[in-house]
Amino acid sequence: MRASQQDFENAVNQVKLLKKDPGNQVKLQLYALYKQATDGPCNVSKPGVFDPVNKAKWEAWNALGSLTQETARQNYVDLVSSLSSSSEASSQGKSGTDVKVQESKDIVVTSEDGITKIMFNRPSKKNAITLEMYQDIILALKNASTDNSAITVFTGAGDYYCSGNDLTNFSGVGVPGGMEEVANKGPKSLREFVNSFIDFPKPLVAVINGPAIGISVALLGLFDAIYASDMATFHTPFTSLGQCPEACSSYTFPKIMGSAKAAEMLLFGKKLTAREACAQGLVTEVFPDSTFEKEIWTRLKAYAKLPQNSLRISKQLIRKDEKEKLHAVNAEECSTIKAMMLSEEYINAIKSFLSRKSKL
Ligand code: COA
Repeated sequence: MRASQQDFENAVNQVKLLKKDPGNQVKLQLYALYKQATDGPCNVSKPGVFDPVNKAKWEAWNALGSLTQETARQNYVDLVSSLSSSSEASSQGKSGTDVKVQESKDIVVTSEDGITKIMFNRPSKKNAITLEMYQDIILALKNASTDNSAITVFTGAGDYYCSGNDLTNFSGVGVPGGMEEVANKGPKSLREFVNSFIDFPKPLVAVINGPAIGISVALLGLFDAIYASDMATFHTPFTSLGQCPEACSSYTFPKIMGSAKAAEMLLFGKKLTAREACAQGLVTEVFPDSTFEKEIWTRLKAYAKLPQNSLRISKQLIRKDEKEKLHAVNAEECSTIKAMMLSEEYINAIKSFLSRKSKL
């Protein structure tokens, strides 16, 4: 799955042939990835407010941070391929190829070479996960559990893997019932979201392309293999947000790394490098960023050729005794999170994140 210069040029031409307008958000992303792939990180000054179009383009490009040109080229090719197949699918009324796509605003789902890939696709917000994305991901996992792929892989677009839950979603701002309403609905959605990972029947793999924060790290205890670029970091700052562990990490982390190491992450918010996370058993293997995409997709393509039934049954054997326990842990974490959402510590932490934003 590594894109050559020729693949990139083909994708650039393919964009001109799209039958359906992909919308402004996607067009901005295509622009940003193109610029990153050809010119490298954003190197021009930010246009002023009176030039909104170029400002939006600049922001999209700048959001890609230090993403390598090679990865940007790969992401561009992947995005065009997903757009081409979705445009083909909608014009034919069926897929017509073996690449299936779920069309969602902030995730891109493709299925090819035995791999269903679910990509967080909100790079301008460092791939923060919204409540809407919870539902899109639940649906993507449901579809992936019965499609003809062997493994399912999560990764992120841009320089981040994911910056955790979208904190503005959990702030109560702009919600008619305020924080009470958010505390009623948020943890319910969170529980459903985490359940879809606990119950996922096929091998679940994370390809961690950059920093990972909050729930995106906490969920890793429910994955079967985790591969990371050496640019990735792992951070669970739950307590500094006045919150507690989620996604079963209160159970999986001590089990994976021992209670002393888990406490440093979950209580004190210690951020781990990819190599530290690997040494502690949270990550399967770390790759140099320059060769990460090439090596990992080659390896996953080979894994995806293994007999599918055997993969599924073996995973079931490994996980079956844990399932009930994981559901109970998820339920307890979510009800604790609900109670803590109304605490002064949490409300102050969220206010401080929002006011930090307005100062920028
Ligand atoms: N929720 C909502 N918005 C987020 C977000 C999150 N978890 N993470 C990043 N964003 C938004 C920022 O508000 C900013 O939006 P803006 O451009 O409209 O102002 C945009 O993404 C880019 O982030 P920015 O903070 O400008 O980039 P940075 O490189 O300086 O810092 C982070 C990146 C991820 C370190 C920083 O945004 C952060 O700490 N986010 C919160 C992470 C977090 O606590 N997650 C929950 C863990 S439990």
